[in-house]
Amino acid sequence: MKNQAVKETKRYHTTLYRNVKLFKKGSWLDKPDTVVMNLARKLGRVNNLLVLDLGAGVGRHAIPIAKIIGKNNGKVICVDYLKVAEEKLIENSIKYHVEEYVDSHFCDVSRFHIKKDNYNLIIAHSVLEHLNAKKLLASVIKNMILGTKKGGYNYIIFTTQLEEYEVKTKKKIAPQIEINLGTREASRLITKLYRNWRVISLRTVPYREILKRNKQDILWKCKYISLIAKK
Ligand SMILES: C[S@@+](CC[C@H](N)C(=O)[O-])C[C@H]1O[C@@H](n2cnc3c(N)ncnc32)[C@H](O)[C@@H]1O
Repeated sequence: MKNQAVKETKRYHTTLYRNVKLFKKGSWLDKPDTVVMNLARKLGRVNNLLVLDLGAGVGRHAIPIAKIIGKNNGKVICVDYLKVAEEKLIENSIKYHVEEYVDSHFCDVSRFHIKKDNYNLIIAHSVLEHLNAKKLLASVIKNMILGTKKGGYNYIIFTTQLEEYEVKTKKKIAPQIEINLGTREASRLITKLYRNWRVISLRTVPYREILKRNKQDILWKCKYISLIAKK
């Protein structure tokens, strides 16, 4: 079951990244999340800013962040376990003239060493739900907490309470995701881990997407849990 979910996550993203251009309308790749951009603008004037983007994909956030923080010698460190994501990220960095300010690491997020007190901003956008085991979710978040400088920010958003339906038959099917926490459980975990931080916002956001799997339309229905916190 878990292996199938990993396979499905990799298949879905590989197909998307091969077929859809960054910042083109028609998918979630069309624009960056406004929360990320607001944080980047807020921090943008700091010199030598370091941002860590976990599960960075093809640069939806890394590229516009690099545009802002590169001017003051800042860098975005990107981590993703898909080769195609890394290739497209490098291509996009060159296309948007920010290759000097983007570093890429082809690596599983749970294996990436997050240096202590090193980052001004750490982003984990729609990636923690794809870790290989529930216990890794807490351990990656703990490393994010340790890796953030005093006064720095974390932004986390991940899927909870995922349900999947075949669109044609409306039949509910087993959701293909590695970690599927209930929204309350996720919220309790985050609250506990960030108890010594200033939690700026912790909320849930309903989300729906129709995706193709084996030529079938599948409705993906979940609640995202999202956290903005300052150390
Ligand atoms: C939904 S996409 C989000 C991409 C990017 N954060 C964004 O918002 O545009 C999830 C990304 O995380 C990557 N990913 C999933 N599980 C991962 C893992 N365990 N280690 C590294 N990358 C992972 C996928 O390859 C994919 O690029």
